[in-house]
Amino acid sequence: MSKLLLKNIKTLIGILPESTSKLSGQEMKTLEQLNNAWLACENGTILAYGSMDDFEGISNWQNLSIIDCENKIVMPGFVDSHTHIVYAQNREQEFVDRINGLSYEDIALRGGGILNSVEKLRNCNENDLFAQSYQRFKEIISLGTVGVEIKSGYGLNLNAELKMLRVIKQLSNLKLIPVKATLLAAHAVPNEYKENKTKYIEYIISEIIPAVSAEKTADFIDVFCEKNYFSKKETIEILNAGIKHGLTPKVHAEQLSHSGGIEAGVECDAISVDHLEFINDNDIQLLLNSKTMPTILPGAAYFLGLQAPPARKLIDAGLALAFASDYNPGSSPSGNMMQVMSMACVQYKLNPEEAINACTINTAYAANLQKTLGSITPGKLANLIITKPISSYNFLPYAFGSNLIEKIIINGKEFN
Ligand code: NIG
Ligand code: FE
Repeated sequence: MSKLLLKNIKTLIGILPESTSKLSGQEMKTLEQLNNAWLACENGTILAYGSMDDFEGISNWQNLSIIDCENKIVMPGFVDSHTHIVYAQNREQEFVDRINGLSYEDIALRGGGILNSVEKLRNCNENDLFAQSYQRFKEIISLGTVGVEIKSGYGLNLNAELKMLRVIKQLSNLKLIPVKATLLAAHAVPNEYKENKTKYIEYIISEIIPAVSAEKTADFIDVFCEKNYFSKKETIEILNAGIKHGLTPKVHAEQLSHSGGIEAGVECDAISVDHLEFINDNDIQLLLNSKTMPTILPGAAYFLGLQAPPARKLIDAGLALAFASDYNPGSSPSGNMMQVMSMACVQYKLNPEEAINACTINTAYAANLQKTLGSITPGKLANLIITKPISSYNFLPYAFGSNLIEKIIINGKEFN
């Protein structure tokens, strides 16, 4: 039995009762905290916390590690509810092409973009794909991500989609951090179906979804609902086929145009709708009457130079809001959630409290990990961030780009 005690914590933040699964509207401004605190972990989970003033001392030193957190903040690690970290090779040439004037759509229309990654992935064997993805997986943990959702979607045929999902399973089997997998066969139409999208959709529904469901390698099903990709009607059809096989819907919605992805997601009870650059007032109303978590991906909006989704308007309307990284080789080659949090404050005008909640408990909800992650709650996993000595948690989004993480705790142990 391993035990860990964090003592003399300057401020312990992100404390929530077990019953809280997400924070909405005004609630997002509340960040429950305790100054001069201790936190005890046992067997990988949070056991208890309290004030150092009432600390009763240590009665049993056996198997106990102690970390002194003087002047340091302790917070729940980030949950990243939207990533594509399983891919083969980067796409920095497209980045240069965009600097020189091509748009993301231009690049996709001439066969680059997602289809470029598809070609690279199909030619990469499972071992190499795992090795590359494992590097990114370890990288995001060291940046404070302690739970992650990872999508397929660069295979776009049965074998290659299964290969991606198996690699995600291998990452999950490492038992480092909780991993959720998403089938995103409807990420784009592959070249071999270029003239016949209907056939590709039939193939997804009759072959890919049943095979993935038989292998039990996916939790969610996602669709890129967008002009030149999948329409609202097609999105609903694919999501419903996934639901029949036990997969929970998610949608890439309203990223490049208003295409009805939110309408489709709410209709199918999606757990989240992500991107939202072109969200409208009707979508906000629909979301208010749903359980769907709107999720903003500021890295993709930044990297592609898109208009910013109206985050303030969503929160002020009473909605919950999550912020995730979208780590992928085309539109957001970064999985740095501390940076995501800073962008949420600087570009989207969230208060630091709202930004922290958006990247922890609300992303935990969007990944269906809220029972085990997203807050300081006894019984949840002891997956924590210990900062360097800093003056307050406001310093985290303020000092953008600085590495302010001193230690990552995973399952109650220091992660190296
Ligand atoms: O979430 N929007 C679509 N899919 C990804 C980008 C994928 C890529 O360019 O490789 C996204 O931004
Ligand atoms: Fe994405």
